[in-house]
Amino acid sequence: MYKDIEKTYYTEEALKAIVKRLGAEISEDYKDKNLLLVSILKGSVVFMADLMREITVPCEIDFMCVSSYGNKTENTSGTVRILKDLDSDIAGKDILLVEDILDSGRTLSYVISVLKTRNPRSIRICTLLDKAERRTVDIKADYRGTDVPDEFVVGYGLDFAEKYRNLPYIGVLKKEIYSETKERESGEQE
Ligand code: IMP
Ligand code: MG
Repeated sequence: MYKDIEKTYYTEEALKAIVKRLGAEISEDYKDKNLLLVSILKGSVVFMADLMREITVPCEIDFMCVSSYGNKTENTSGTVRILKDLDSDIAGKDILLVEDILDSGRTLSYVISVLKTRNPRSIRICTLLDKAERRTVDIKADYRGTDVPDEFVVGYGLDFAEKYRNLPYIGVLKKEIYSETKERESGEQE
C-alpha cells in the first residue's frame, strides 16, 4: 500500500493538529446547543473518530451513507443516492455534517436539502479538506480543516476504488495506479 503513494500531503502529525483545532472551535460554538455529529460514510469515518474525541461538549453521533464514485475519480453523473439513512430523529437538533472532502459540493448540497425537511434547529458543515476550485454548487464549509489542490488524494478515510482508507496520512497515488485500474475496468467490460 505505502509503495503506491507518490507524495504525502498531510502527515499524521499535521492531521492531528488540524483536527485538534477544529475540535476546539466546535466545542466553543456548541456549548449550549443540542449537537448531533453526522458522519457521511465511508470517507469521513477516520476523521469523525478523531474529531469527536477533540470535542469537549456533549454530543450525539449518527451516520449516513450516500452513493460514491465507484472506481472513478470524478462524479461525472452528478447524481446522489441515500444508501443508509440516519437512525435518529433530528427535529430540534443542531446538526454538524462531518465530511472528508468537499469537492463539487453536490453530495452535501443534496444531503442538506433532505435533512432540512426534517426540522433540525441548525445544519452546519465541517470538512477536513476543501477543494474549493472544483465547486459547482454554491456551498461553503463552516469549519474547514485545510485547502487541497485539485488532485485526487487518498488516506485517512479517503479511498480510491475502496482502497487506501487505512493509510494513516493523506497523499497522492502514483499515476500508474489510476491507469492500471482503468485498464482493468475496461478489460472487464469486454
Ligand atoms: P462532491 O459531491 O463532489 O463534493 O464529492 C464529495 C465526495 O467525493 C467526498 O466525500 C469523497 O468521498 C469523494 N471525493 C472527492 N474528491 C476526492 C479525492 O480527492 N479523493 C477521494 N475521494 C474524493
Ligand atoms: Mg465521502
